[in-house]
Amino acid sequence: MKLKYLFILVLAWLSSCQEVKSFIEFPDYFPQENRIYLDSVRKETVDLGEKLFFDPRLSKNDKISCATCHLPELAFTDGKKISQGFEGRFSKHNSSTLLNVGFLHSFMFDKGSHNIEIQPIIPLLDTNEMNMSLDALDEKFKLDATYQMLSMKTYGKPLNRRTITLALAAYMKSLIACTSRYDSFVSTGDSTILSSSEKRGMRLFFEKAQCNQCHIAPLFTDSEHHNLGLEDSKKGRLGVFANTLVLADRGRFKTPTLRNIEITFPYFHDGRVDNLEQVISYHLSPQRKTSDFIPVSLTPDEVQDLSAFLKTLTDKRYKKKSH
Ligand code: HEC
Ligand code: HEC
Repeated sequence: MKLKYLFILVLAWLSSCQEVKSFIEFPDYFPQENRIYLDSVRKETVDLGEKLFFDPRLSKNDKISCATCHLPELAFTDGKKISQGFEGRFSKHNSSTLLNVGFLHSFMFDKGSHNIEIQPIIPLLDTNEMNMSLDALDEKFKLDATYQMLSMKTYGKPLNRRTITLALAAYMKSLIACTSRYDSFVSTGDSTILSSSEKRGMRLFFEKAQCNQCHIAPLFTDSEHHNLGLEDSKKGRLGVFANTLVLADRGRFKTPTLRNIEITFPYFHDGRVDNLEQVISYHLSPQRKTSDFIPVSLTPDEVQDLSAFLKTLTDKRYKKKSH
């Protein structure tokens, strides 16, 4: 009997030792189904991923890092209409913020990836972005003692194509945006945190203007794809159709998160619009009516209020410090 209890005690002790304390923190009103998945991310893995994310040696000519197009102080976008990578070549789309990307289940404007652990392979191999090969990824850091040590420490394996993408994914999962003024309002319920215009805008967002149908709080995206009539067939930007070849997918693009939207301009998949008022008017009067079109009309004052509300979603940790 006693031995049995001792056995259980030892087992309990062992499992508590193996329990990994997460350092990725997010509020209770964020999707809790991601808790287990994000809790398993360890600090040393994120540190390795961060080092890789900023390292231009991840590109063929040692000049382009992930951070070239995802700058932390621009909420991990690059401020350009269309991103530029290897030898100034243009990417297909406008750069996306990576904030809260660990909560999403599909990635890229045209649904190019469903797995954050595999997604990094796309920019790494894209000839317009980093132009690497899988073999080059395995070879390049073989003699780099620091990287090999860090990879052994966290994965028990050398740094190679697999550990590189896993570590980059771990770093991206750690990029949580949750300390905006909107978040302070949600977590405290203190309505003096928002101005009257911002509060009017918030009501419009969730009620009359129905923005929350696709930009669902608290992530402000549904991680789905919709057709706002913005496809550009001349430039070959056709949305999800590019990956599925299903006609109904033409013109369907990812719903971007609205977190830090104040600084992630220019907007839309091709950066065609610079300010939030214009984005809103595009939504409410698409050139071509699509099945996803929501017929709502707003006064100019209401558009102002709505855009004031969107600016309460800025987490200042991912914004250039003003001097
Ligand atoms: C040359 C510019 C460029 C480089 C370099 C680059 N990206 Fe991107 N990234 C983009 C653009 C543009 C998009 C939007 C592309 C799309 O949706 O088709 C994007 C989208 C993403 C997304 C999807 C986000 C979402 O919400 O769907 C992730 C994740 C990502 N990049 C991670 C990385 C990582 C990791 C690296 C480095 C290995 C990297 N990127 C390098 C330009 C770049
Ligand atoms: C039917 C779904 C849907 C609804 C409803 C909707 N949006 Fe969007 N929104 C999208 C999609 C999809 C995009 C990206 C389109 C593209 O780039 O081609 C987008 C883009 C945006 C952008 C630009 C984001 C960026 O990073 O480029 C903003 C801002 C925005 N929406 C705000 C709003 C507001 C405010 C409302 C309410 C008036 C609203 N949306 C209603 C689906 C929707």
